[in-house]
Amino acid sequence: MITRRGFLGLMGAVAAAAAGLGCTENKPVTHNQTVTQTAKFSQVPWPYVKLDPDSVADIAYEGYMHHHCMYGVVNAVVQSLADKIGEPYSSFPTLITVYGKAGVSGWATLCGALNGAAMVCYMVLPEKEADAVINELFSWYEYTPLPEYVPEHPVKSDLSPFPKSKANSPLCHVSVSNWCKSSGYKAFSREREERCGRLAADVARKLVELLNEMKAGTFVPKYPLDNVTMKCRACHCKGSSLQNTRGKMACWECHTKNITLIDEMEGHPKI
Ligand code: HEC
Ligand code: HEC
Repeated sequence: MITRRGFLGLMGAVAAAAAGLGCTENKPVTHNQTVTQTAKFSQVPWPYVKLDPDSVADIAYEGYMHHHCMYGVVNAVVQSLADKIGEPYSSFPTLITVYGKAGVSGWATLCGALNGAAMVCYMVLPEKEADAVINELFSWYEYTPLPEYVPEHPVKSDLSPFPKSKANSPLCHVSVSNWCKSSGYKAFSREREERCGRLAADVARKLVELLNEMKAGTFVPKYPLDNVTMKCRACHCKGSSLQNTRGKMACWECHTKNITLIDEMEGHPKI
């Protein structure tokens, strides 16, 4: 069971730390080994081996039901890598990532599943590759009707077919509210919890697919930013004349709805 495994992993780390402390007095050699091990793992990226996206998705769904979205994704990958590689994954305290729940302690900012996935990218990939995978994952999340994952044993709701929606945004607030609007279920319903559990599984699966591809050298981005957002960025973001904002989120989701042409934006300077 995930929680128990996660808990045991954490306890392992605590035990190791305690042993290390004990050793300072009695067995300095072992202590030095602990120090060397710590120094070794203070540098990222850590090793990665190919994982099975579907089984990681199953663990993420189950993990979500215990400790929410960010934990669901991080724990699924970390536990899977711990099973194959061992340290440092076996000692990684995945419970830290519970903070990401509901877009960081209920603030509904960045979706916790994405937050967790982004952290995993920086665990196992160098910066440029991590950013490329994050870009792809966030864009896929914005533009794809989700959730797709169907659990073998649904925990909170067994609605079938399960309602899907496009998030249009990496933000928990927008993602959840768009789903509530299209499904008719409330933000604090069991159905919404089920939706986010399945979404965490989807994100974990997609993440592992992308990591596998990146490691195999077959990664090709398939979700570029949409045309409207690209146009907005050309005048407002990095390298533009105005440079009065930054970001890659779909601009039209907040600034105007269903916009296809800048000219249709109410109150926007005509160009
Ligand atoms: C061809 C350049 C250009 C493009 C493309 C463009 N903008 Fe602008 N935008 C401007 C200029 C110029 C202003 C006025 C800036 C000022 O007055 O300081 C502006 C102002 C704004 C403002 C400030 C509020 C307002 O209405 O005056 C917002 C918000 C904005 N743009 C959003 C967007 C979004 C969203 C898009 C894409 C759908 C977009 N812009 C595309 C040039 C552009
Ligand atoms: C999640 C919602 C959201 C998204 C997505 C978003 N914005 Fe904004 N944007 C805001 C809010 C909120 C403000 C602040 C508006 C205010 O307080 O008047 C703002 C402010 C701005 C301003 C300054 C407006 C002014 O009055 O001077 C510009 C320009 C702008 N955004 C452009 C963009 C562009 C370009 C994108 C896409 C790359 C984008 N925004 C995406 C919500 C969003």
